[in-house]
Amino acid sequence: MTHSQPGILASLPDQARYISLQLADTGDLVAALRRLQTLADGKATVVALGQDVLRALGHDMPGLRAGPVIPGSLVPIPCHPVSLWLWLRGSDRGELLHRERQLVQALQPAFARHHSVEAFLHEQGRDLTGYEDGTENPQGDDIARVATVAVGGGDGLEGSSFVAVQQWLHDFEDFDAMSPTAQDMAIGRRRADNEELDEAPDSAHVKRTAQESFSPEAFVWRRSMPWVAGHHGGLMFVAFGSSLDAFEAQLTRMSGAEDGIVDALFRFSRPVNGAYLWCPPLRDARLDLARLGL
Ligand code: HEM
Repeated sequence: MTHSQPGILASLPDQARYISLQLADTGDLVAALRRLQTLADGKATVVALGQDVLRALGHDMPGLRAGPVIPGSLVPIPCHPVSLWLWLRGSDRGELLHRERQLVQALQPAFARHHSVEAFLHEQGRDLTGYEDGTENPQGDDIARVATVAVGGGDGLEGSSFVAVQQWLHDFEDFDAMSPTAQDMAIGRRRADNEELDEAPDSAHVKRTAQESFSPEAFVWRRSMPWVAGHHGGLMFVAFGSSLDAFEAQLTRMSGAEDGIVDALFRFSRPVNGAYLWCPPLRDARLDLARLGL
């Protein structure tokens, strides 16, 4: 029986690490993915593969692109493709560090670590700006419907997900320079009680991204977490979906490409990278790489 990786659908962990790796030696790729199958359970360690890995194995995934490219964007949207992305979920930062070391070592020489970021749950699910994040996420059965490819989606595809990963760097000085009302108007919700503000301008983040307002409707399963590195911090934005289209529709509108209105988030935050990947499903509690001929 095929299932999605349980870590994708589960509640957010207290602590996490996001690891990006790049393909370095294709000769070892198949063996490295086999090693990964024994180490990553899809629950504590969620796995996603980039387009270059699929292509190196001679497979193309319909709908998978390397990363966001938004023609006509009025703001910089970086696209930094990643070969392999691991989301380590847990509760102890030390354990996560050691798990990362074990994985990175086991994946050599096929993959080389490119980037790793520590993330955590802040005030039960708030962004570092203090706003509740995830309120309008799907609920109940809708989570799997939105986040994964449905039954009948194709051989080795059922239960898999597409994921958009975009690290946002906040400028806290810019944010602090805004009045509390201007901050609420930028998000489109009141920080104090999370109430949606009808009077917010069209640039307000929740007006830009209102999922029912797109045609077709653009629902995503957001699993973002705050991150810190030294004195820098922001949001590791992560959206799972049955395709990448909903995320890209939202980002397009946020970027101003559609109507010239840029999302007010850009007044105090900006994406510093961005990649799209594919999360294989599980079969018999192991990563199912049948789609890749493994
Ligand atoms: C600095 C980065 C970001 C921050 C701090 C942020 C924060 C928030 C907050 C506070 C909400 C309101 C509560 C909720 O429904 O979750 C929200 C909603 C939402 N955000 Fe973001 N977000 C960020 C980036 C993005 C990006 C890049 C996308 C997609 C391209 C996105 C898509 C959404 C969606 C779909 C909603 C729900 C809209 C609705 O249907 O009401 N966000 N975000």
